[in-house]
Amino acid sequence: MQTTNTRHGRWGAIAAAAFAVAIGPLAAAQHAGSYTPADVENGARLFGQHCSTCHGADRVNDARKTAEGWRVVAVDMRERGARITDAELERLVEWLGRVKGTNDSQ
Ligand code: HEC
Repeated sequence: MQTTNTRHGRWGAIAAAAFAVAIGPLAAAQHAGSYTPADVENGARLFGQHCSTCHGADRVNDARKTAEGWRVVAVDMRERGARITDAELERLVEWLGRVKGTNDSQ
């Protein structure tokens, strides 16, 4: 039972989700919605690839915006020519909001 729950795939995911609900919020927190170190790396990589070609990275590093603010910027940059897919844009916006957001501790 435990080993089949950890397998990937549609039924595995459903079983894992049901399992998480059954054992409570601690397990649920490790599923969808958690932001992992891999996500951080991914965001940084997308940023390096797509956001420092036309202008320097400092243009972004000097800015602080909410996630919504970064979304507006990213869409604007795409209109100016940044070649990012919708999925990449979402990942980038989330990363920017967390790493270069308006919270003082960031
Ligand atoms: C195709 C070229 C291009 C790419 C790629 C690009 N930008 Fe820009 N970016 C611009 C131009 C042009 C400006 C305006 C420059 C100016 O105002 O002097 C700008 C300005 C900005 C600004 C300052 C304006 C503001 O609203 O604060 C930020 C922040 C920014 N870009 C972020 C990004 C991010 C994040 C990415 C990656 C998704 C990115 N850019 C990719 C061309 C680009």
